[in-house]
Amino acid sequence: MTTTLVIGGTGKTGSRVAARLLNLGTDVRIGSRTGAPAFDWDDDATWAPALDGVDSAYICYYPDISFPGAASRIAAFAGTAVAGGVRRLVLLSGRGEPDAVPGEDGVRDSGAKWTVLRCAWFAQNFSEHFLLQPVLDGVIALPAGDIAEPFLDTEDVADVAVAALTQERHAGRTYELTGPRLLTFADAAAELTRATRRQIRYLPISAEDYAGAAAEAGVPAEEIEPLSELFTRILDGHNAHLTDDIERVLGRRPRDFADYAHDAAATGVWSKAGETEGSLR
Ligand SMILES: NC(=O)c1ccc[n+]([C@@H]2O[C@H](COP(=O)([O-])OP(=O)(O)OC[C@H]3O[C@@H](n4cnc5c(N)ncnc54)[C@H](OP(=O)(O)O)[C@@H]3O)[C@@H](O)[C@H]2O)c1
Repeated sequence: MTTTLVIGGTGKTGSRVAARLLNLGTDVRIGSRTGAPAFDWDDDATWAPALDGVDSAYICYYPDISFPGAASRIAAFAGTAVAGGVRRLVLLSGRGEPDAVPGEDGVRDSGAKWTVLRCAWFAQNFSEHFLLQPVLDGVIALPAGDIAEPFLDTEDVADVAVAALTQERHAGRTYELTGPRLLTFADAAAELTRATRRQIRYLPISAEDYAGAAAEAGVPAEEIEPLSELFTRILDGHNAHLTDDIERVLGRRPRDFADYAHDAAATGVWSKAGETEGSLR
């Protein structure tokens, strides 16, 4: 039996990758600060114990592959992994992000068989991450203007990651993964309004106002500037196009944002305590 280390195995993509591998009968080790043994990107002494006996790894860097320090840590981790006998690495990356490329190169140059997954903006940011509270509050304020983004379901990311971890033909490939449809953030808010039957609107704001609001919301100071810069870089229109890489890897179309919103609403994640389900305010 092969053992796969799934870094970020409790997060939006890693948890889904781990579940699929377990279903396939693969031995899975969760790589996160709460894993056993613990894995921490900020403590390289945790890397070798987490890699012990591992054949392949899904690499999800936290907080963001384009942030300062990410590339050197990913390269160092990939080196440790290959020295310890890991033969296959699948890296989660960002689409249209020049600052993510050095991190990707650390995996490409590691000597392992590699696959890079350059991903569009995750749909699950609205239900499992920093946009959950704004959706609950009914106002999604972002410095995104009227830019369109092909929101990507992390269920699709996980399907592609597992294909890359288990099928030879994906070695040495860099995929660009997008959803099947371009939506502005106003379009996304309209889909969320339909799915939740509560009024949710998009409010375009400046990068400066976003940084101020993030600080007030308690986002760590060292993450605010790179986060604002990231939004400015990826939401300038250059990513407003679709790819067919998911269809080429999986033989089916990616999941639509409306289906994501419908299924996420059914879990109750957007239901506020004490509110009557189905009221459109
Ligand atoms: N969000 C998007 O739309 C998007 C799009 C494209 C690419 N990406 C890329 O995806 C990657 C992950 O971002 P995400 O937003 O999807 O997050 P995520 O995977 O949902 O992040 C949470 C995961 O990271 C783990 N984690 C947090 N701090 C850690 C640390 N210091 N060491 C080890 N594990 C740690 C968490 O587990 P514990 O708390 O248990 O440690 C959890 O498993 C980033 O590199 C980002 O660039 C994101």
